[in-house]
Amino acid sequence: MTLQLRVYVPEHPLIKHWLAVARDAGTPSVLFKTAMTELGRWLSYEATRTWLPTMPTTLQTPLAQADGTLIDPEVPIGVVPILRAGLALLDGVQHILPIASTYHLGLVRNEETLEPSCYLNKLPQKFHPQTRILILEPMLATGGSIMMAMEILTQRGIDPTLVRIVSVVAAPPALKKLSEHYPSLNIYTAIIDEGLNNRGYIVPGLGDAGDRAFGT
Ligand code: URA
Repeated sequence: MTLQLRVYVPEHPLIKHWLAVARDAGTPSVLFKTAMTELGRWLSYEATRTWLPTMPTTLQTPLAQADGTLIDPEVPIGVVPILRAGLALLDGVQHILPIASTYHLGLVRNEETLEPSCYLNKLPQKFHPQTRILILEPMLATGGSIMMAMEILTQRGIDPTLVRIVSVVAAPPALKKLSEHYPSLNIYTAIIDEGLNNRGYIVPGLGDAGDRAFGT
């Protein structure tokens, strides 16, 4: 099988800057939240570059007729933040995609087995087959949560080739699982880290993204 999984790490100074702020253990919760909002904004800007459906139009400027391009309103666009930590990216994403629907998905991992379970699912039973989905999952660690999210989404009609994942820190175990099961996926992340510790945390990572974003 040819693996086509594409993991993009955009070389943008703003992404690097906000990643450094988020990683610093001395960053207080309110600034951490700002860093995640900015990372959500710039990573989703990169992720939507070749993914948003467009349509040609002609328009009248004050001086003459001109050709233009609009976002196609007929193609549904959905944003799926994986709670809790995915919520920290949402504000930035909504700035650039105000027309998207937001479908919350609450997944929690058991701290002993590291297995996820779903406690909230606001997805429709069936999606339009052309729906574009942006999944917000800041920490791609063991891959348990993102694999569960992908399973739920594909069962409801989502085509993996139309999915983009926005992450902040990605680790090899999650990328390996995704590439084996969903080789056509596109992932946008601020950095790929070395690996996980024995509690399933990414090292060096940024700690518990949910706790840091929500001050718990
Ligand atoms: N979830 C987090 O918030 N941090 C990690 O390092 C791994 C999973």
